[in-house]
Amino acid sequence: MNMNMYDTIFSRKSIRKYYQERIEWEVLDDILQFADKLPMLYDGIKVEYKLVSNIEENQGFNGPFTVKAPYYIVLSSEKKENYLLNAGYIMQHISLYIESKGLGTCFMGGASPGIGLKKTIRYDYVITLAFGKPKCEPYRDPMDAKRLPENELVVYKEEVSWDIHKLLEAARLAPSSINNQPWRFVVYKNRIHVFTKKNPWFARPMDKMKMIDMGIMLANLLIAAEELWIDVKLTESASIMSKTFKNNEYVLTVKIG
Ligand SMILES: Cc1cc2nc3c(=O)[nH]c(=O)nc-3n(C[C@H](O)[C@H](O)[C@H](O)COP(=O)(O)O)c2cc1C
Repeated sequence: MNMNMYDTIFSRKSIRKYYQERIEWEVLDDILQFADKLPMLYDGIKVEYKLVSNIEENQGFNGPFTVKAPYYIVLSSEKKENYLLNAGYIMQHISLYIESKGLGTCFMGGASPGIGLKKTIRYDYVITLAFGKPKCEPYRDPMDAKRLPENELVVYKEEVSWDIHKLLEAARLAPSSINNQPWRFVVYKNRIHVFTKKNPWFARPMDKMKMIDMGIMLANLLIAAEELWIDVKLTESASIMSKTFKNNEYVLTVKIG
């Protein structure tokens, strides 16, 4: 069964049980070619995707939150401004692409590559995506996704058309580490201001994962915009940036049209 990436946004789920078996080389090669052609969210950040098989050799990724899978794509990146948003953005594209082929994926924030693998990584290690043939159905009804309701995430300052609602629905359904859903939105007719929930001080080490989550959400939003023929541009509002908010932090603005 093949879907497009937009449809996949609404029907995917994380897969944690896989057959430890090989995937045909043509399929793996196709995934790698897709990754290599992906444009960055922010130009000028160099990344490396490393595809490793976990079938013959254990690649690390041990620990309580790990997902044992036949394959991992390990992302490393130059540590430039916005590299975490960029990382989430490109890895969600790859995740949706793989899922659209009927395979399963799961992001792995809770486990790291083994020492041997780590030595071969080109840039700073960021995140890994597990994938393979799923032991269960890889799709679900979007109604079964455990997500916060729209009214807890989005403040509409003006009436918007159905397609802008659809962009935000795609954003709302994005996966995030421990299903944290850190994104918040303030929406005008032609602007979506994007915020992220502040972590309490003891959860600050989670800030890195949170910005990857934000990048994942942006991928969903921008893929939906493309599908619905909505022109969008990412900008930053200097005036919002200069304000401080009690519970949220400003990230960027999606300008529509
Ligand atoms: C950045 C990131 C890191 C994640 N790390 C783990 C992990 O270490 N172990 C795990 O089992 N799931 C992990 N997940 C999967 C989330 O728990 C899952 O996406 C979330 O609970 C929502 O469920 P769903 O993807 O099925 O919609 C991660 C997801 C993201 C986006």
